[in-house]
Amino acid sequence: MLRGDDPATSVVDARDDDESALHVAGLLGDRLVVTSSYYPSTSPVHPERVSYQLRYMATDFDVQGRGYGARVASVAEAMLRERGVEEIWANGRDTALGFYLATGWATIPGSEHLSAETRLPHTMIYKSLLDDAVRS
Ligand SMILES: CC(C)(COP(=O)(O)OP(=O)(O)OC[C@H]1O[C@@H](n2cnc3c(N)ncnc32)[C@H](O)[C@@H]1OP(=O)(O)O)[C@@H](O)C(=O)NCCC(=O)NCCS
Repeated sequence: MLRGDDPATSVVDARDDDESALHVAGLLGDRLVVTSSYYPSTSPVHPERVSYQLRYMATDFDVQGRGYGARVASVAEAMLRERGVEEIWANGRDTALGFYLATGWATIPGSEHLSAETRLPHTMIYKSLLDDAVRS
């Protein structure tokens, strides 16, 4: 899904087995249809906040647009809040920005770039996990 449906490519992160990493998947029966991984990483917007980076967010081709991605993200964010995480950020694919904007993320102006890994256009995005009263 994330690498042009090419089974020869792999989507592995050196931090995957770290205890601090969080992987949240969505299952339809025993079929994995949504992936998402979060790793501790300094936020480019609020470096003073406890932050994680989201990577490898994907919903399988045939079940996109059914709310599964948003549901998995919501569960993951609740788990991150429980860990004391205050902000999440990501390099969002421009083709997926609609999803992120619909689920409470904001873009970082001027952060548009081509990904070194995929050469696809990306924009940096972030989302506060703090209560409305303390976010800025
Ligand atoms: C982006 C992606 C993860 C979204 O997952 P999904 O399960 O299809 O999304 P959902 O059905 O939960 O959508 C939630 C909301 O986002 C909107 N949305 C989803 N994808 C969108 C898109 N590409 N453009 C605009 N809006 C989008 C939906 O309309 C929905 O809005 P609503 O709540 O107002 O109805 C999925 O399309 C995907 O895997 N894309 C290819 C891989 C990719 O680009 N991953 C992101 C890498 S940064």
